Amino acid sequence: MSRLLSALLLSCLAASALAERAGYYGYGKPAMPEEIAGWDIDVRPDGEGLPEGGGSVEDGESLYEEKCAECHGSFGEAVGRYPALAGGEGSLTDDRPHRTVGSYWPYVSTLWDYIHRAMPYTQPESLTDDEVYAITAYVLYLNEVVEDDFVLDRETFKDVVLPNAGNFIRDARPDTANTRCMKNCKNPASIEITSIVETKPAEETRIEVASAAPVGKATYDQACAMCHVSGLGGAPVLGDAAVWTARSARGTSVLIANAISGYQGEQGYMPPKGGFAALTDEAVEAAVEYMLEMSQ
Ligand code: HEC
Ligand code: HEC
Repeated sequence: MSRLLSALLLSCLAASALAERAGYYGYGKPAMPEEIAGWDIDVRPDGEGLPEGGGSVEDGESLYEEKCAECHGSFGEAVGRYPALAGGEGSLTDDRPHRTVGSYWPYVSTLWDYIHRAMPYTQPESLTDDEVYAITAYVLYLNEVVEDDFVLDRETFKDVVLPNAGNFIRDARPDTANTRCMKNCKNPASIEITSIVETKPAEETRIEVASAAPVGKATYDQACAMCHVSGLGGAPVLGDAAVWTARSARGTSVLIANAISGYQGEQGYMPPKGGFAALTDEAVEAAVEYMLEMSQ
């Protein structure tokens, strides 16, 4: 037996031994405690999850100025279209409610969580726990819910009740009206599937009666834009006239055929129908025509 063959045989044996372990698919690995810790950062309304440490309004002032004010304003009044963090008390029933930490936010613990996980906007999770405590304290101070000598930590957060806390209620709506089936369930093949991809063509056929143009755009938005808007994976970019003129010199029918059947070109791989097998050939054709029209 050649060495290659015996190596193949060995690896087949190893694979079948693994496959015998029920539920083992031969990929993946157990998450390490460090990886779990990286994800497990939520803080609950009751404070569960708040770390050790603390920070004062005083320390928060300069940190806020340095890391937050460029977007939220030195007094939480907002810069441009960024959200305001202070003000707006009593405005929630107005036609244009002004939602801020002081007027709307329910709990100090979840404010800590939000700032910790999401801010500053361009560098989330870059702040130390103490910095988050200090900045949160300062945001509370801007909302006049604490004094300037306040120090926030996992104990003192309980002393601060935000003005709107009492107005949140538990959502009594059930997530779904269906009861989970555990035995003698419906045959999955008989269940009607209503995913976006499968319902779209029907809708499009309806529109098609009026005009072909919307089908092209709708199909493009749904199935093609993800690559063709940015040039992902080498896709020619919508609107890039030079690139598309060169391609259509080969004939529009070639482009349509390639979009329907897919092909490996020099720039990259164009999957058949962009990977959306449920699309009709007509819808893909309309999408190509739309793309050419947008790229003249
Ligand atoms: C580059 C701009 C930028 C910077 C800097 C920034 N933020 Fe934000 N912040 C945003 C944007 C945008 C949102 C809205 C995000 C959303 O709705 O998904 C936001 C939302 C918030 C909210 C929620 C507001 C609400 O009521 O829904 C808080 C609180 C907040 N930021 C605090 C901070 C703090 C504290 C810092 C400094 C550590 C900071 N942000 C730095 C842009 C910024
Ligand atoms: C996963 C990314 C991806 C998606 C989704 C995608 N394309 Fe493409 N497409 C490509 C790439 C990459 C190329 C360039 C291949 C090459 O020429 O090397 C390409 C090329 C094309 C071309 C030029 C064909 C030619 O012969 O020059 C057309 C037309 C086209 N795509 C239409 C579509 C349409 C219509 C859709 C949606 C139904 C779509 N594409 C969805 C990646 C994608």
